[in-house]
Amino acid sequence: MSIKVYTQEENVNAELHSPEGVMVTEVSAGDDIEAKMHVKNLKAWFRQKQVLNGFDFKVATNKITAIIGPSGCGKSTLIRCMNRMHELTPGARMEGGVFLDGIDIYKEDSVEMRSRIGMVFQTPNPFPTMSVVDNAISGIKLRGRGKSDGKKIGKDELMGIGEEVLNMAGLWDEVKDDINKSGAALSGGQQQRLCIARALAVEPEVLLMDEPCSALDPASTLKIEELMQELKKDYTIVVVTHNMQQAARVSDYTAFLYMGELIEYQKTSVIFENPEKELTERYITGRFG
Ligand SMILES: Nc1ncnc2c1ncn2[C@@H]1O[C@H](COP(=O)(O)OP(=O)(O)OP(=O)(O)O)[C@@H](O)[C@H]1O
Ligand SMILES: [Mg+2]
Repeated sequence: MSIKVYTQEENVNAELHSPEGVMVTEVSAGDDIEAKMHVKNLKAWFRQKQVLNGFDFKVATNKITAIIGPSGCGKSTLIRCMNRMHELTPGARMEGGVFLDGIDIYKEDSVEMRSRIGMVFQTPNPFPTMSVVDNAISGIKLRGRGKSDGKKIGKDELMGIGEEVLNMAGLWDEVKDDINKSGAALSGGQQQRLCIARALAVEPEVLLMDEPCSALDPASTLKIEELMQELKKDYTIVVVTHNMQQAARVSDYTAFLYMGELIEYQKTSVIFENPEKELTERYITGRFG
């Protein structure tokens, strides 16, 4: 059997342009979503180079939304725009709006917005000079937590929060006898759960995860996936992944990005069983990317 390998240009031409050459980026999921976050006509650049071409994207409340697409298509840039981290990169800019519960996050305090919209990165990055428990509570020490209204939190209470969030991240039982050892002395999977605990400690409402399992073995990956299922009762989760099985297993909605365009956004079952666009099908069946 021969499989046609498409060039990037052919892919884009086949899917994004009508015969008249007009862009037709129709995206079906979203209209009936109860949105925790709403991205409107988002465009992003690194210096002269445009990497997100202007699309709308709603994130459903208390659901897991997966973002998939080939390397370089703009997944990380999208989620970094969603918690105001994109603007921290020199030469980076964006246009359009990002709303959390209807509030324009670009009109609010960036630090507060980043604590309401937490982020977990691809490579676990615990602070190496801090103990496990200090890592878990480091965010609170820096900027307080959602409900504290800026009031100072005592040491005992902090330790209690440390235990609570390590528990939530499914790590407490593994570290409780050794909470004073360095965060860097944990295994990769434990470090990633520690970073999730650290993100949870400041009581975010949304958790953005950028390939959180790419450095982990299958057993640790499974633990993180189980944790995500548990967390979605209280949090809204967006996860970038290159792992199609992971997207199919854990997410409720899936967005497929390609070269800065949102090609298709649907319930995950539709994306993986009956995608609307041929480009989506070619990607999820591993024919490019
Ligand atoms: N700091 C940066 N400076 C300049 N260009 C960047 C920077 N970060 C990303 N880019 C470019 O922006 C585009 C989108 O990158 P992005 O990191 O969002 O892709 P991605 O989909 O997350 O890729 P991957 O799957 O490899 O992580 C790419 O062309 C990339 O080269
Ligand atoms: Mg990325």
